[in-house]
Amino acid sequence: MRILVTGGNGQLGNELQRILREGCSEIGSIPAVYANAEVVATDIETLDITDADAVMAYVAQGGFDLIINGAAMTNVDGCETAEDAAYRVNAEAPGNLARAAEVAGAKFVQVSTDYVFPGTEPEPRVEDDPTGPVSAYGRTKLAGEERSLAECSRCFVVRTAWLYGYVGKNFVKTMMRLGTDRDEVTVVDDQLGNPTSANDLAHEILKIAATEDYGVYHCTNEGTCSWADFAEAVMEGAGLDCAVVRCTSEEYAAANPASARRPAYSSLRNKRLEGTVGNEMRPWRDALSTYLKNLPEMEG
Ligand SMILES: NC(=O)c1ccc[n+]([C@@H]2O[C@H](COP(=O)([O-])OP(=O)(O)OC[C@H]3O[C@@H](n4cnc5c(N)ncnc54)[C@H](OP(=O)(O)O)[C@@H]3O)[C@@H](O)[C@H]2O)c1
Repeated sequence: MRILVTGGNGQLGNELQRILREGCSEIGSIPAVYANAEVVATDIETLDITDADAVMAYVAQGGFDLIINGAAMTNVDGCETAEDAAYRVNAEAPGNLARAAEVAGAKFVQVSTDYVFPGTEPEPRVEDDPTGPVSAYGRTKLAGEERSLAECSRCFVVRTAWLYGYVGKNFVKTMMRLGTDRDEVTVVDDQLGNPTSANDLAHEILKIAATEDYGVYHCTNEGTCSWADFAEAVMEGAGLDCAVVRCTSEEYAAANPASARRPAYSSLRNKRLEGTVGNEMRPWRDALSTYLKNLPEMEG
């Protein structure tokens, strides 16, 4: 099997490569179909996924059976002030990859986000609940889902949230840095979601992609919390003596006027996983605890 992973330098891209190399993730073995898989990971230098011709040519000569798109413009605030650029990366580029996968006869995985939902309902969202993004990031990612599904008949769209991996920038590492430097940090307490380990997500993506049950999936670690709860768990797990001061989104926006609007309640339920390959996603605190234990060694 030949697999193309775009966004190879990103959080998810790194975990996919690690798991495919090792044959297992932190939550178990991956399907036997991946034994001896040849993995090609690209970054923007090797393959700029916004270049439709380059994508078509690269995929045509690559002989890929599976393409997993780990590339995106993930800076939510940055997307707000550069929606055109975000649209090219988050919407048009997945369309390019999906079209190339269709022509090549490959399966395609597009990764998406909880931010496609408005966050106005106080219950975890399932896959076919109505979308309604409130940010440029959410709008462009939703357009990416639509283009992917329209262009490729063997397409999986996997929505995840609040992602952290061993390589790259994320909320956990930011809190650890601030917690080392400061006595207190102020964190939003009225936005609720699901912190998710990129290692667990990569595991489930590989299980899904071994099937032919195409369509939309939710895939987050189990349990819902606020950013402030998440920050407190990081401080506690990392043994940092730093208080978490809770604030509202309104207070945060007043202090950070360039920040994008975010959904208030964007928790997802992994309903489709439950009904297909099985939902192995751990409670978020368990996944975080493994991550904090492994991080020093991973960072070498
Ligand atoms: N991070 C989260 O909290 C979160 C939450 C929900 C969903 N997701 C989704 O999960 C997926 C993986 O996210 P992640 O956190 O692993 O992302 P990430 O760490 O930000 O990595 C994204 C990668 O995409 C690359 N990239 C950007 N533009 C590109 C282009 N035109 N051509 C090729 N590569 C390009 C980036 O390269 P450079 O580094 O060189 O720019 C980066 O390596 C994304 O689809 C994201 O939308 C993430």
